[in-house]
Amino acid sequence: EQKSGPVVAIDGPSGAGKSTVAKTLATAIDAAYLDTGAMYRAATLAVLNAGVDPSQTAQVTKTVKNAKLEFGTTPEDPFTRVDGEDADLAIRSDDVTKAVSAVAGNKTVRKFLIDEQRRIIAEAKAGIVVEGRDIVSVVAPDANVKVYLTADPVERAKRRAAENGADQAATKQDIERRDTADSKTTKPLEAPEGAVVIDSTTLPIVEVVAKILALLNNRDIDD
Ligand code: DC
Repeated sequence: EQKSGPVVAIDGPSGAGKSTVAKTLATAIDAAYLDTGAMYRAATLAVLNAGVDPSQTAQVTKTVKNAKLEFGTTPEDPFTRVDGEDADLAIRSDDVTKAVSAVAGNKTVRKFLIDEQRRIIAEAKAGIVVEGRDIVSVVAPDANVKVYLTADPVERAKRRAAENGADQAATKQDIERRDTADSKTTKPLEAPEGAVVIDSTTLPIVEVVAKILALLNNRDIDD
């Protein structure tokens, strides 16, 4: 009988370091990687490309279901394509970032993308590291390791600003606005039940990854 690799769920607010940690970890354990935030962003880009208002529930649903959304799951190249076009840069644009909370709050869109996320997880035979907001609570509550990665808001703004070459004060405002908007749908500022909380405010990425690796190894001993 072939044993499939582990599922690692990493939730947390924007700027806590989820993407870097998740990609580094996936590479270290030869597992796949899934950025569920990129999926909501791709859906949002499809909506904006179609000229649809993100608050128009029925039109948004129809547009997202008809769009061709493709996601690469290797940690070295987690590409996103929307209707056949490379969308890696476009999904990080300000326009998408501003509109994504509204699209992610659409119940039908969520159901559609969560089904897709579960399908990708089930197909990842070598294991997968999944990052998002509701992975522990909704998408994969049976994950082998469940982590809530957080950091002080000032530190989160610093990191995001450095990543995007943007102003720190404006980034902090943007993060706070998005945390509040996202809180209507998921609970980005609350540790989900059953998750191990890791605060990355003063912890280097390598140490966060080492902590999760230790959790994975303990699980193997327990099995
Ligand atoms: O992680 P991110 O900032 O790229 O995510 C983009 C948006 O998608 C974020 O504002 C909230 C939403 N999101 C969500 O609702 N559920 C997830 N599992 C992941 C992201």
